[in-house]
Amino acid sequence: MELHQIQKELAERLSAKRFRHTCGVAASSRQLAEQYGADPDQAELAGWIHDCAKEMSLEDMQALVRTENLSLDAPVLKSRALLHGPAGSVYARRHFGITDPDILSAVFYHTTGKPHMTLLEKIVFLADYIEPSRDFPGVEELRKMSGQDLNQTLIAAYDSTIRHLAEQHAYIYELTLAGRNALIMEEHNPS
Ligand SMILES: [Fe+2]
Ligand SMILES: [Fe+2]
Repeated sequence: MELHQIQKELAERLSAKRFRHTCGVAASSRQLAEQYGADPDQAELAGWIHDCAKEMSLEDMQALVRTENLSLDAPVLKSRALLHGPAGSVYARRHFGITDPDILSAVFYHTTGKPHMTLLEKIVFLADYIEPSRDFPGVEELRKMSGQDLNQTLIAAYDSTIRHLAEQHAYIYELTLAGRNALIMEEHNPS
């Protein structure tokens, strides 16, 4: 599917607020790619599609991923917040015809993060966090940081998410903690 067709479908399917967020993630992904030496077109496309499954019901997400051979663990399968990344990667491949494994992986992991993310995965993860329509305490600081050091900004974003979940006494997915810790180790012991 051509980009303009994908954009049209997203504009129709997503709520106005989610579509505005999507436009912001596409733009921020392109900007971060230009800054950190990734492919801007690839990053922008990943940004456009990253939340394509976000507004599906949990049942629809589960039905979508069930037909694939994905080894998703129980906490992910039970949570719309955690499952929309994996479901989105399946939807984007089947429905938009996107086959680039780097883009599909960036969509898959954009909410949870994971250890040893690729540059593109980091860019989409961070763009999702700091795009212009995001408004939460500390976001401006993260936007400033993102202009200087990608990995340090990612650590700050992980910490912000983990802190928020802990304050709510909410479940924290293991892969998110592992992703954060792996990045700390990498930054302290650069190879
Ligand atoms: Fe998302
Ligand atoms: Fe998003």
